[in-house]
Amino acid sequence: MSVFREDLLASKVALVTGGATGIGREIARTLGRHGARVCIASRKQENLEGTTGELRAEGIDAMWLACDIRDGEQVDRLIAGVRERFAALDIVVNNAAGNFPAPITGISYNGFRAVVDIDLRGTYNVSKAAFEAFLKANGGHIVNITAPFQNMGVSLQAHVAAAKAGVDSLTRTCAVEFGPYGVRVNAVAPGATADTEGLDRFEGVEGAASDSPCPLGYVGSKQDIANMVLVLVSEAASYVTGQVIAVDGGTSIDLFKLSLPES
Ligand code: COA
Repeated sequence: MSVFREDLLASKVALVTGGATGIGREIARTLGRHGARVCIASRKQENLEGTTGELRAEGIDAMWLACDIRDGEQVDRLIAGVRERFAALDIVVNNAAGNFPAPITGISYNGFRAVVDIDLRGTYNVSKAAFEAFLKANGGHIVNITAPFQNMGVSLQAHVAAAKAGVDSLTRTCAVEFGPYGVRVNAVAPGATADTEGLDRFEGVEGAASDSPCPLGYVGSKQDIANMVLVLVSEAASYVTGQVIAVDGGTSIDLFKLSLPES
């Protein structure tokens, strides 16, 4: 059961990129369960249709639009589609991302570009278009889903870390430029999150996050991430903007990850 009122987001409209699967789907569901009308967007129509059906079965007013957020024209059509159906947009969650574990020498030029394009340029494209079309006039929220490791050196994630460092920077710049218009912009940095494609991709990688202890001692859930998004778009966070909040059980502040002796 949620600690928030069921009608917390009544009359609000939310757009969740990458909302058909994984963490994005849980975010869309959580915002919808608290009263928001929800548009999910991603590249694969079959995933979008399936998830939209599930959301509607829960009583959520949901729609989907196929969009590759790397393409500005597709993003403009996405925002126009939200306008056509809901005539409003209050909350944007930039969740769509690409990832695969590979060393720098194992990433092709195109592979590096694909991840930076989706994670960073996609976040920019959607934020800019949504601000110009809706948020500038009416205020609202942008929440970027980032990562907890880009301020450190991290193996096998050069492309993702570079992209997410850019996302964090963009979060702060958007917060500064959009703040005067009543738009709060924050980021959530999930640690290892159970039952996600992101975690699956690290299956078999020695020392992967899912095997490492964190101060809280367990791998987080998609609901943990969605809950923080909900907090950030609620009045509970009314004076919070430009922040990157790690939701990682303390992984990112536990430098040496040493085990305590048995007591
Ligand atoms: N290892 C190395 N290179 C890889 C790779 C892998 N596991 N997966 C993709 N690439 C490379 C491709 O080889 C290609 O480069 P090339 O043209 O030089 O061969 C490049 O990345 C683009 O791949 P492609 O599949 O054509 O592009 P895409 O734009 O459709 O998507 C990804 C690429 C990686 C972003 C996509 O596969 C993806 O999003 N996957 C992960 C989704 C995910 O895990 N999300 C959760 C994020 S935490």
